Formats: sequence, C-alpha cells, structure tokens
Amino acid sequence: MIKNQLLYLSRADVTAVGLTMSEIIAALEKAFEEKGEGRVEMPPKPGIHPGGGDNFIHAMPAYIPAMKSAGLKWVSGFPENFQRSLPYINGLLVLNDPETGLPISVMDCVWITAMRTGAATAVAAKYLARPDSSILGILGCGVQGRSNLEALNVLFPLKNVMAYDIDARAAQSFANEITNRFGLEVVIVDIPKDAVTGCDIVVTSGPILKKPHCTIQPGWLSEGAFASLVDFDSYWHPEAMHETTKFCTDDVPQLHHYREIGYFQDIPPVYADLGELVTNQKPGRETPQERTMTVNLGLAMDDMATAPLIYRQAIKKNIGTWLPL
Ligand SMILES: NC(=O)c1ccc[n+]([C@@H]2O[C@H](COP(=O)([O-])OP(=O)(O)OC[C@H]3O[C@@H](n4cnc5c(N)ncnc54)[C@H](O)[C@@H]3O)[C@@H](O)[C@H]2O)c1
Repeated sequence: MIKNQLLYLSRADVTAVGLTMSEIIAALEKAFEEKGEGRVEMPPKPGIHPGGGDNFIHAMPAYIPAMKSAGLKWVSGFPENFQRSLPYINGLLVLNDPETGLPISVMDCVWITAMRTGAATAVAAKYLARPDSSILGILGCGVQGRSNLEALNVLFPLKNVMAYDIDARAAQSFANEITNRFGLEVVIVDIPKDAVTGCDIVVTSGPILKKPHCTIQPGWLSEGAFASLVDFDSYWHPEAMHETTKFCTDDVPQLHHYREIGYFQDIPPVYADLGELVTNQKPGRETPQERTMTVNLGLAMDDMATAPLIYRQAIKKNIGTWLPL
C-alpha cells in the first residue's frame, strides 16, 4: 500500500494482470474452507432495483481474515442491456486494508465476477461431480458459459461440449472460441434437452428470472450427472431438481434471503453448503450413480478471495493508475 493513494484498475488493467483460472479456483476453495470453519464475515447482499423487473444493483461486502481481505463489490445486472450493446453485469470493487480500514484499490469487477463464478462451479464440481466427467452441457453461451467451461476444464478431462443458446450466433461464436482456446469439440444443439441428457456436467447460464421458465424436465438429467445452476432455478422444472440426491448451495442464509424476495419458490431441501463440503463436514458425491446439483448464488467472499491476488500482482507488474485519496 502507498500512503494516501489507492490503485485504480480499469477492466483492461484487471484482465492484463493475467491471474489464471487455477489460481482463482485455489483461492475460492481456501475461502470456502474458511467459511466452513465460520471464519468469514459476509452479510447477505442488500440491493436496489432501478427500473424494476429483474434489474438489480447489489452491495456485496466480505471480510476473510485468513486472506487478509476486506472489501465491497457494487455490481449491477440489467437483463435488457444487450439491447443497448452493453454487458449484463457491470460494477466496481473496493478493497480495504483490513488493518487500517483505508481503501487501497478500486477496480472494475466484470472480469472478476465472470471468473470467480466459473471457479465456484468448479469447486462445487470437485466435490459433487464424477472425476471422470468428460461431456459438458452449456445452456446459455455467454460470459458465464465461457468462464464456467474454462474452470471445469481445469479440473476435469473434458472432451465434448454440447452448447445451446436461443441466439444461434451466440452459440456459434462460443463454439469457435472454445475450440480455438481449449481444443474441445463443441456441438451446437438445437434443443435444450440435447445439452442436458447424456452430459456428465450441465451448466445453465441464461438469464435469472423470478418466475422460472422450467424448460428442463424431470428425466432429462442423466444418472451420475452434476448440474450447476448459475442462473438460479430459472431453467429447471421443480420435479427435475427434486430428482437430485444432493442439492447444494454456496450460502444458505443468502438462499433464504432470495426466497423471501420471491426467487426459489419450489426447490429441494439443501443438503450442504460448499463450506461444509470443502471441510468434509458432509460428504460430497458418494456413488457414481447419484445426481447432484449446486445453485451458487455468487458470494462477496468469492470476489474478496480473488481481488487481493489481482491487487498484489498489479503492483508487481506495475499495472494500474495511482490516485490520491
Ligand atoms: N450465480 C452467480 O454467481 C452469477 C454470477 C454472475 C452472473 N450470473 C448469472 O449468469 C447468467 C448469465 O450471465 P452472463 O454474464 O453470461 O450473460 P450473457 O448475456 O453474457 O449470456 C447469456 C446468454 O444466454 C443466452 N440466453 C438467453 N436466454 C436463454 C435461454 N432461454 N436458453 C439458452 N440461452 C439463453 C443469451 O443469448 C446469451 O448468449 C445471468 O443470469 C447472470 O445473472 C450468476
């Protein structure tokens, strides 16, 4: 830290730091261990809803003592932004010095949000998916479709990707990019069922809706599969979720909070949170046959596990702009 200054990191700066997905997965797993041991301070996120509908701007504070990390993300999600050619998720993250409380950095949070959400799926999958999972289904081929795939590709021997998007051009550009970057075979499918049935891991990453469209029907998710519901329960028929033996989440209080404001009106009981899985308080997958699922809501803790790594590497690499306090 430099006295009376903070480091501003633009979206390009954050990306230029070059933190790897493996580093982010490791940081999140450590954060979930801390959470499982009750050592993370993280109140449920308050939000405002300009324009109503499914628009939100959330304040997401967290303090992880073991990682010397304290701060807040102020993040918006506006589902109609694509009509303005703007990203759905936007926002800033403020890091504080946990010893003095002083702000030490302000950074764009779009890259972090994408990467840490993928990493949280991978941490869940490590405990809930079959280790030999090789076929991945992605429904919603946007930012999250990409980062979830990238993270799962770090931990699993992926070979094939079944990609579905309501926008054929989005599916095509996803397929081109994934094949180029990771050398995986991507099959663009015309109906959602083909990105679910027969897949070892399924990620739904379309828009989050208070009223789910329930496209994924009971009987679609194959025996032995794991699903990550990045877009909450929007894609899933309640009976399809009830077919899983272990329905997990990243944070139970936040799940209750969402239920109180109208989301998740018909979901199975929660088997465990990721902190309990990572600290072995509850076993993850126990048989190759069981169907497992996580709905990760996205935690401030995920961001605060990642942001200090970016801050420190940015200083080392001389990236960013120092601003006076
Ligand atoms: N749980 C979390 O921690 C977390 C964090 C960040 C984002 N999200 C959620 O992830 C979702 C995706 O975010 P993003 O940044 O990737 O958005 P994005 O706009 O980049 O991508 C969304 C994609 O979904 C497609 N789509 C829309 N409706 C669909 C449908 N019914 N079936 C299949 N595809 C459909 C769109 O064409 C687009 O390609 C959003 O709902 C967002 O709120 C969750």
